[in-house]
Amino acid sequence: MPLLIRNGEIVTADSRYRADLWCEDETITRIGPGLAAPPGADVIDATGKLVFPGFIDPHVHIYLPFMGTFAKDTYETASRAALVGGTTTLIEMVCPSRSDDPLEAYELWKSQAAGRSACDYAFHMGVTRFNDMTPQLLERIVADGTASFKVFLAYKGAFGINDNELFQTLALARRLGVIVTAHCENAELVWQLQQRLLSEGRTGPEWHEPSRPTSVEAEGVQHLATFAQATGAHVYVVHTSCSEVLAAAQQARGRGVRIWVETVIPYLILDRSYAERRDFEGAKYVMSPPLREKSHQHALWNALAAGEIDTVATDHAPFDFHQQKEMGRGDFTQIPNGIPSVENRVQLLYSYGVFTGKIDLHRFVDVAATKAAKLFGLFPKKGTIQPGADADLVIFDPAHESRIAAATQQMNVDYSAFEGWPIAGQVDTVTVRGRIQVQDGKFVGQQDYGRMLRREPTHGA
Ligand code: URP
Ligand code: ZN
Ligand code: ZN
Repeated sequence: MPLLIRNGEIVTADSRYRADLWCEDETITRIGPGLAAPPGADVIDATGKLVFPGFIDPHVHIYLPFMGTFAKDTYETASRAALVGGTTTLIEMVCPSRSDDPLEAYELWKSQAAGRSACDYAFHMGVTRFNDMTPQLLERIVADGTASFKVFLAYKGAFGINDNELFQTLALARRLGVIVTAHCENAELVWQLQQRLLSEGRTGPEWHEPSRPTSVEAEGVQHLATFAQATGAHVYVVHTSCSEVLAAAQQARGRGVRIWVETVIPYLILDRSYAERRDFEGAKYVMSPPLREKSHQHALWNALAAGEIDTVATDHAPFDFHQQKEMGRGDFTQIPNGIPSVENRVQLLYSYGVFTGKIDLHRFVDVAATKAAKLFGLFPKKGTIQPGADADLVIFDPAHESRIAAATQQMNVDYSAFEGWPIAGQVDTVTVRGRIQVQDGKFVGQQDYGRMLRREPTHGA
């Protein structure tokens, strides 16, 4: 059904103006003042509200066998959580184990989403080993529309690849024109430091950070950048937690490496003291790389404002506190890594970034939507508001105030890392390709409306 959104204030990465929006056949067809509504159209009055492009989370885990368990969300729960939080597109990491067939894994991940997602979605293909068969399998996956890879320099013995595999993956990505996203921590250093701490009887969640210090993350980024320079590949550093990585990425850019930087919402607002909470409470805050000293938050916000960080994702990876995080009581290396936040990213970035004056509304839209769309081959259908774009829209009430509570969240996990946190503004209405999926902050939509987004390689130059 056609949709008219009246009198909202449209905000994109580079513009802000009051206008009506007319949506038909899944797209935005007209933008202008005083558009007339034909009979039968849905009409939304957005007076006093901001209208943003649907937000994009370029780094989530939904189906994730990991550390002896599975992440808790399904596409049903994660996509509803994303939508009520203002995110209309998810890009999920396909994470096969080293012994899995990559094509079978890719089909398995796709089958988890098909017919179950309420929002649109795409994938980054995890390359967790490389042999003679890999190039032809990855070429088929790219031809299927998954035009980005993911590598892990961490997680020795699980997802992690060696230098030979890294070189071959980057060289192939260069040839295919796809970008490679990378988890950068030196796996050997992590393993050695973990063993040392455990042998000293340091077993609680507060030892997770010391086992993966900032130098270990920076080494990973320098390593990736060196390989990217040698192969000419375009690379994207996921979940940047610290100032040392920002410096390493800047240095690499300075010598011509095509490198982009993502941070994730937990690092912007949580610090390592959360993982030091008593009675194993700190396990709720164990993710990798770990939460850092507060000083790194300032560096991340400054870099975000200055354009040195390209995107803010979540790295959503939900594990229950009671059953799953518990697996690591007595040995922090066994705590499933991850902090759930797909529902909270947009509201937290607005509340603790825009509302506090750290970033302006345009940077907010850019880092939470537009830049990811550009980097991952979704722009301009996604990530902006213009005629011809998909009618993925977020109508946002800046006057609303609330608090985060696990009891009312859509994410299928038994805690919130942000319990009780005050929130400025509210995601009021969300459309996906012109269909109203969220109204008055509640999911009212069609559960299987989401579509897999097939992307062309865009990193050939
Ligand atoms: O702690 C994290 N980040 N868990 C999810 C897996 C990953 O490394 O992205
Ligand atoms: Zn990671
Ligand atoms: Zn991740």
